[in-house]
Amino acid sequence: MSSERKKMTLPRLFKKVADGDPITWLTCYDYPTAYLQEQAGIDMILVGDSLGMTMLGYESTLPVTMEDMIRHTQAVRRGSPNAFLVGDMPYMSYQPSVETAIRSAGRFMAEAACDGVKLEGGAEMADRIRGIVAAGIPTMGHLGLTPQSASALGGFRVQGKGARQAKKIVDDAKALEEAGAFAILLEMVPDRLCKLITERSENCFIMSLGSGPHAHGQLLIYHDMFGLYPRFKPRMAKVFGNAGEVILNGLKQYVQEVSEQTFPQPENWFSMPDEEYEELIKMLD
Ligand code: KIV
Repeated sequence: MSSERKKMTLPRLFKKVADGDPITWLTCYDYPTAYLQEQAGIDMILVGDSLGMTMLGYESTLPVTMEDMIRHTQAVRRGSPNAFLVGDMPYMSYQPSVETAIRSAGRFMAEAACDGVKLEGGAEMADRIRGIVAAGIPTMGHLGLTPQSASALGGFRVQGKGARQAKKIVDDAKALEEAGAFAILLEMVPDRLCKLITERSENCFIMSLGSGPHAHGQLLIYHDMFGLYPRFKPRMAKVFGNAGEVILNGLKQYVQEVSEQTFPQPENWFSMPDEEYEELIKMLD
């Protein structure tokens, strides 16, 4: 089935924001899921470094490499030609220097046909964003719970509940906006803080992951939506369908049917004409 969608672009995303029309955004890491998200009309796709946990089974996102990211992002682009595709800069692909950041971002654009990139961090990363944007690459910020710094943040927990920490997130958002970020993801900050930052944003839009309804759009982790990540389900995620359970039941049935020799059935194999078979036997005699 070919997609009849129009390509999602930055001007079209900003038009949605101006019209008060929420932006839909999901993570995705592979071709078949990207194909389905394309059919569903998802506006934006994030190939997150969360793939280290959801697809590769690591304990954190830190071991994920640029090679991992590029390979998965290429597959997603093949499945979804029209969503606005954001490549997530993995650990140490931008922290060391502005030049490293520009080179890594460039790989997402040149090798995986991304529409933009995302990186984690506040004012201390503003020069990376400025550099990447100056190279002509749309760039998003990511504040609040930033998984690459989970250790420094004291674990996977809500950020900005206290006034002092909340003020730092407000200041960081302004710094990223001034550096040229086209959008900022707020992950696991209180809803009122998200609302405040959304209302103060002028040249960028704000996306929420577990930060309430007042942002310009919402992001969810695909694996959390469909019961596909076995280790835990974060509170902020809603299960929209338990695909994990459906798959597990199917797998158990397969094991049972093969064991009981009720699978395969004639419709699952291919036959050979009698005369060809007889000739084969003769040839083997
Ligand atoms: O890697 C990812 O999927 C992310 C989300 C947690 C926002 O960065």
